[in-house]
Amino acid sequence: MNRVHIKTYGCQMNARDSEAVAALLRERGYAIVADEAEADIVLLNTCAIRDLAEQRAIGKGHHLAKRKRRNPRFLFGVLGCMAQNRGLELLDRLPDLDLLVGTQKFHRVPDYLDQLTAAGRGSGRPATLVDLEAEEGSQNTIRDHFTAEGEESPVTAYVSIMQGCNMNCTFCIVPKTRGPERSRPPDEIVREAEELVARGAREITLLGQIVTSYGRREFPAVGGKTPFVQLLERLHGIPELARLRFTSPHPSGFKRDLVAAFRELPKLGHYVHLPVQSGANTVLRAMHRPYTRESYLRLVEDLRAAQPELWISTDIIVGFPGETDEDFAATRELFTTVGFEMAYIFKYSTRTGTPAAELPGPVPEEVKEARNQELLALLERRSLARHRELIGTTQEVLVEGPAKRPAGRLMGRNRGYRKVVFDGPEELLGRLVPVRITRATVATLEGELAEPAAPGELTFSSQRSA
Ligand code: SAH
Ligand code: F3S
Repeated sequence: MNRVHIKTYGCQMNARDSEAVAALLRERGYAIVADEAEADIVLLNTCAIRDLAEQRAIGKGHHLAKRKRRNPRFLFGVLGCMAQNRGLELLDRLPDLDLLVGTQKFHRVPDYLDQLTAAGRGSGRPATLVDLEAEEGSQNTIRDHFTAEGEESPVTAYVSIMQGCNMNCTFCIVPKTRGPERSRPPDEIVREAEELVARGAREITLLGQIVTSYGRREFPAVGGKTPFVQLLERLHGIPELARLRFTSPHPSGFKRDLVAAFRELPKLGHYVHLPVQSGANTVLRAMHRPYTRESYLRLVEDLRAAQPELWISTDIIVGFPGETDEDFAATRELFTTVGFEMAYIFKYSTRTGTPAAELPGPVPEEVKEARNQELLALLERRSLARHRELIGTTQEVLVEGPAKRPAGRLMGRNRGYRKVVFDGPEELLGRLVPVRITRATVATLEGELAEPAAPGELTFSSQRSA
């Protein structure tokens, strides 16, 4: 009765939360299994950002409820954002649920499973265990890491630095599901990163719902630098670390110090995610995004001046209430002006309880779909063109592991965070190697190991900063 499978929906923050829960459960004597069919307990770590994400998890919940009816000893639970968003109402949809745990209570899951498995041995089914409370200090509980049996420590690791968001973008459910901003102390974050690096991590990605707000209430600015930039500088100083990334930032968080960091901290590489949401000022205002298309474009210029080789990705919502053809044209125009190499394009999804849910002027589904397709086509063309420009160049690649497809090859990423597939020995894992690009598709670059043409021609970031 102790094999647990955790299925994760949604973003990297959710994946990180699941990992921390898995680590705690293993410590408590539970086995974490990759195959759902082998599990005695299935936990769904859910997402609430769009309706589709919730529907998928609820569908899965129905499926697990059937399994439970066939086998009453089987246990299943819903964790995370949808649990927090829907609360007890979920029990109407999934009355057989054993466990319902919110986003500030992940660390309590081992205790609850202990209670449920102990109760299961007695007679009668215990009522659903529910814990959706807020908990002071819960941001400090997402810190344990998990590596599956027989697997090596990963080259890329994720560190949660803060929880919650105070921005209240009108479309967004995150402030409700994740609560207000709370940050972890920098010393703890640095210690966690150092441990990960000691175990073999070469790239660290800092995670939070709005990482650029890190510590702004808890810790002072020093020498004109925000707590976030101070943290980046400290982590950048870990000698064996090759790359440092973060997600998700907010454009308004890019003050002068963070822009300068892209010039001064080579381990940040040539990549930044800069969620714009819309290119129309009327829509940005209605979304409660506190920047304009003009100030966003200026920021892009400043960042490119700091780091000329920067690759930029973004998030865009099409079909926000009241979005006109002209508004969409403005988004399309900004999209081509910036030339995003990567973008996550979403059709607006009404989230009950958010201010945007009350706005007039819903955009018909087929219009959303058409706008979505239009941006996707632009993105494909742009990504392919930028990838093709790299053919013949030598890229610095951090080797992450074996490629999924085709098998037998290695996969890594260049400084612009594009996937590169090439042949090479497994010993290269975790190393920065030069790869000459020979082929390019929309999603991937292919290449072959190259020797640096002359010493120093290809300066690796880990050496530069050592
Ligand atoms: N904190 C981040 C990301 C939050 S959620 C930020 O500042 O942007 C990730 C992305 O999902 C958002 O950037 C947005 O593009 C999209 N999203 C959020 N709510 C949405 C909704 N109601 N409908 C469609 N897309 C949404
Ligand atoms: Fe959501 Fe806006 Fe925060 S998109 S996570 S409310 S910055």
